[in-house]
Amino acid sequence: MRNLITAMALVAAAAPAIAQAPDAALARNLAATCANCHGTNGMTQGTDVEPLAGKPKDELVRKVQEFKQGKKPGTIMPQLAKGLTDAQIELMAGWFAAQPAK
Ligand code: HEC
Repeated sequence: MRNLITAMALVAAAAPAIAQAPDAALARNLAATCANCHGTNGMTQGTDVEPLAGKPKDELVRKVQEFKQGKKPGTIMPQLAKGLTDAQIELMAGWFAAQPAK
């Protein structure tokens, strides 16, 4: 029970941070959700999935927006992009663009 209360307190404490405007840690945390498929820090290793690191921000925003709007076909990304807000897409794209490409 105590653990549950602690967990709830943590969630409550974190919520305002998530709602806040651009922030490097938030961008990195959002981008981490892409790492499973696009590699740690957006550097794909040994898979066919496109790396994201070092791609121009504009290009990343455009592609994810196209997935979101159903203009770009895909297996996973259209579904995933629909769950992102425009602000989240901007943040992540900026973060990946700033990562060194391999
Ligand atoms: C479950 C695996 C998976 C996750 C998680 C994932 N992607 Fe993807 N991504 C793919 C696949 C597969 C493609 C190829 C298109 C398709 O089939 O949907 C792709 C394609 C892309 C492309 C287009 C690449 C190009 O040059 O055509 C971008 C941009 C992209 N993903 C961004 C992201 C971002 C940003 C995230 C995190 C929010 C993310 N992806 C999370 C699997 C994933």
